[in-house]
Amino acid sequence: MCGIVAYIGKNQACPIVIKGLQRLEYRGYDSAGIALMQEGDITVYKTKGKVSDLQSFIEGKPTDSTLGMGHTRWATHGVPNDVNAHPHYSGNKNIAIIHNGIIENYAVIKEELTKRGHVFHSDTDTEVLVHLIEEIQNNEKCSLEKALLEALNKVTGAYAIVVMERNDPNTLYGARKGSPLVLGIGTDEYFLASDATPIVEYTKNVVYIGEEEVVVIKRDGGFTLKTIQNVEKTPYIQELELKLEMLEKGGYEHFMLKEIHEQPRSIKDSMRGRLNAVDNTLKLGGLKEYEHKIINANRILIVACGTSWHAGLVAEYLFEDLARIPVEVEYASEFRYRNPVINENDVVIAISQSGETADSLAAIKLAKEKGATIIGICNVVGSSIPRETHAGSYTHAGPEIGVASTKAFTAQVVVLTMMAIYVAYKRGKITESKYRQLIIELDTIPDKVKHIIDSTNEQVKKIAEIYKNAHNFLYLGRGYNFPVALEGALKLKEISYIHAEGYPAAEMKHGPIALIDENMPVVVVATNHSAYEKIISNVQEVVARKGRVIAIVTKADDIIKSLAEHVIEIPDTEESFSPLLSVIPLQLLSYYIAVGLGKNVDQPRNLAKSVTVE
Ligand code: G6P
Repeated sequence: MCGIVAYIGKNQACPIVIKGLQRLEYRGYDSAGIALMQEGDITVYKTKGKVSDLQSFIEGKPTDSTLGMGHTRWATHGVPNDVNAHPHYSGNKNIAIIHNGIIENYAVIKEELTKRGHVFHSDTDTEVLVHLIEEIQNNEKCSLEKALLEALNKVTGAYAIVVMERNDPNTLYGARKGSPLVLGIGTDEYFLASDATPIVEYTKNVVYIGEEEVVVIKRDGGFTLKTIQNVEKTPYIQELELKLEMLEKGGYEHFMLKEIHEQPRSIKDSMRGRLNAVDNTLKLGGLKEYEHKIINANRILIVACGTSWHAGLVAEYLFEDLARIPVEVEYASEFRYRNPVINENDVVIAISQSGETADSLAAIKLAKEKGATIIGICNVVGSSIPRETHAGSYTHAGPEIGVASTKAFTAQVVVLTMMAIYVAYKRGKITESKYRQLIIELDTIPDKVKHIIDSTNEQVKKIAEIYKNAHNFLYLGRGYNFPVALEGALKLKEISYIHAEGYPAAEMKHGPIALIDENMPVVVVATNHSAYEKIISNVQEVVARKGRVIAIVTKADDIIKSLAEHVIEIPDTEESFSPLLSVIPLQLLSYYIAVGLGKNVDQPRNLAKSVTVE
């Protein structure tokens, strides 16, 4: 996490850096800072709080500079405060650094440097790194570049860094390992950033800096790319597909609401070129080379975190139900540390919106070493996970900025649904006519999502108003709707800070039923065809204990209507596609509750969108 952005060129750096930090705020927002090269000095302004606090802090202060770098932080080492905020200086203030990631061996290095007289002001690992660079430079009387390479060979962990030096106002250095860094190449100007969003309005030409690579940018002399072992590399310049309007709220009050409303489009975009509704066929180009591996897999392991893990759970139902392949869904963080049994006939699917989640990335590296085939389902083009995979399919949800994931989830589920149908058909587990029928129905999903948003919005808003002061919520679902219950509960927790639990509806009687009383709102996702009677029983169990049921039902479901206090009706679909529909009212519910409580919907406390620490 943490967002970094830097500029060198002919224009004023400060406004470019500040605007860039605002774009990157989804990555962390507990403190922010900027360093500007000014008349032979490096000026640092930093403060606890958001980028807007930094903006107020620097108002009226001198910011004239054409070389600068900024940072928005999500604390790992040291509490969020002014001192721990980046940038950090070296001891003699000759060098300044911004950093995203964790230097794991910082404590040992800090101890050694302290013995050699270094004095540290912050609790951060980053300050240790910049002191190490300074120490090497002083000892060896060498260039900053040489000292930087040497220091990077001494540290373990992850970093994306930008470094500047007081004595050299014409050079900017960047490096990465494990955390993302993109170089933007403009006309006589260069940008460095954690992702392309701060860059897109200035240039479309970018280079994604590779693992253990360093970029040295000269104001008038272009840039060089090399490894930390000092081997020069030929840069691969790519053209960005990102459009500026994708990064703006477009009239919505929050990005989250905009992203909920974008789902008919984002689902369609994720199907475009893959699902052909004219001749009823499916094609997943990115998987072609490895599709035989999936079709013949002994089992599928899915690794992911957060909302993406919930999409993985939906995929478990899809692949087992339709394609008859055993599936295990793992939290990436647990998977990698428990010596998992993996063999060459396993297919590992990593699901990640950002493509940067450190645990997911580490999990696939481990599985790759053990010979598994690695498939990625990611949203951010050029991110780290897709680069580590053998094959994959991008979700085309477009940039997701709200920290609570919405459109990325439905895009992941739709891509996984297409994969499962395709593999099921190729394995001969579904008939030709079932295959075609599924494709025809899948093609109707974007319109049904739109219908749900339009028809339930006002009703959900009212329900949110009634329950916004509840202290606990229970979310229940069975089968395909169990992961939806988990996702609904997660959404509520993330943005409203109300405690919510997702549970398999039948499992409720083994514990959570004890919590039910007249104050407990219970959201039941009850659109199932199979086990329908069972879910009615579960609703009755809640009602009998005076729980207040908010049920998501299929249109014209009169039985649950007669039992529940509130029913939200959604259109019918194939049971295996129901998560794509039933999750929509839950997204709206959490959104309106958080708005009703006056919470910061797009940037909830303590969270970050891209979690690049383990
Ligand atoms: C963070 C975000 C979640 C996200 C999870 C996994 O916790 O706040 O919204 O689901 O990371 O992120 P990924 O980018 O791998 O999907």
